[in-house]
This record gives sequence, structure tokens and C-alpha cells, in this order.
Amino acid sequence: MDQESQVIEQTVAFVKRTLHESSHDWLHIERVWKTAVDIGVKEGGVDLFVIHLTALLHDIADWKFHDGDVNVGPRVAREWLEKMKVPSEVIDHVCGIIRDMSFIPGKENPPLTSKEGMIVQDADRLDALGAIGIARAFTYGGYRGQSIYHPDGLDANEGSGSTVGHFYEKLLLLKDRMNTATGKQLASERHDFMVEFLQRLKAECEVKYDTVLMEHRG
Ligand code: NI
Repeated sequence: MDQESQVIEQTVAFVKRTLHESSHDWLHIERVWKTAVDIGVKEGGVDLFVIHLTALLHDIADWKFHDGDVNVGPRVAREWLEKMKVPSEVIDHVCGIIRDMSFIPGKENPPLTSKEGMIVQDADRLDALGAIGIARAFTYGGYRGQSIYHPDGLDANEGSGSTVGHFYEKLLLLKDRMNTATGKQLASERHDFMVEFLQRLKAECEVKYDTVLMEHRG
């Protein structure tokens, strides 16, 4: 096995033993990792080693669990990669992307400047879309004690604090924020599936009260 493959393999083991919390568990990292490498191969002209390491380490210290300190992730990643004797220009590139990708509430992320960064961000956003995006949204909503939907928010763009509200506030906006052509295409398919899901959810949840009453009376 070559040296880069060894670093990737050891990083996988490191990430697995470091992660916690259900919507950012190892399976999320693994999906983002595979999707990012897949997009990287399709797009071409990129440093795949950087993509491997960035995807694996992008959630290593989620700010939500470190009192909002966005520097924890890049720092933990840097310490690990230095220990692995990864070349310093690769470390700088990987940690710069992780820093710029960190989600800070109320703030726009700076646009990513490298193709490798754009690809990992696309892969991370794709994991919030489609069937897996729906599953993750409700898992996280449950963890936060949110209701599934707000009766008035089923087809409206309103901050209802429900998980369906989160679709309108964030998830349905993601397809227009993709960086790469491959990412855009995958996002568009997953977006359409989510829209269809929301339509069905609305149909199933909005049974007319009059009809219920009439049926009851016979
Ligand atoms: Ni992520």
C-alpha cells in the first residue's frame, strides 16, 4: 500500500473513534467521503488526496459541541495530519477548506476558492438532500425535540420551528447553491424527490375536518 493510502486508512480509523451524535456519525462521513471522491473523479483535474482527507475530517469537531468555537475542527485536523507527516501544503489546503466550510449560525460561509473545497462542500450538501436528507432532517429534529410539521407551515416558507419548516428555510434552497456541474445535477434529482415527499406529506396530513365530521355522523 502506498503512503497516501496508508494515511487515508489511518484517518478513517481516527475519525471513527472520534465522532459522536447521530446525524454526524461515521455513516454521514462515509457517504460524504465516497460522494466527494466520486464527484472528484468525474470532474477531474483535482488533488484526490486532498479530497479524501478533507471529506474524512470535515466534521471532526462540530462547532455545536464546542461552544461555537469554529477553530476546533481545523486545529484537530491539523494536529492529526502533522502526526501523519502529511506535507504541509496539503495540511494547509485541507484545514483551510474545513475552516471555510464550518457552519456558523447567522453568517454566510465564505465562498470556497479551490475545486477540492467546492467538491467536498457539494458532497456534504448532497447528504442533506434526497431520501437520506429527509431521514437525517427528521432524526435531527427528533433529537432537538421538534415537531414534524406546523399545521400552517406545510406548504409555506415560514419559520415554524418544525422539521418541515427546516426544509423551506434551508434544505430546498441548497440545490441553487451547488458549486460543480456534477453536484448540481445530483442535487436537482434529490431536490425533486424532496418536493414530491413534501407534497405527499401534506396530502396525508391535511385531511379535511368537514369530511371527518360527516363520516362520523354517517
Ligand atoms: Ni458534514
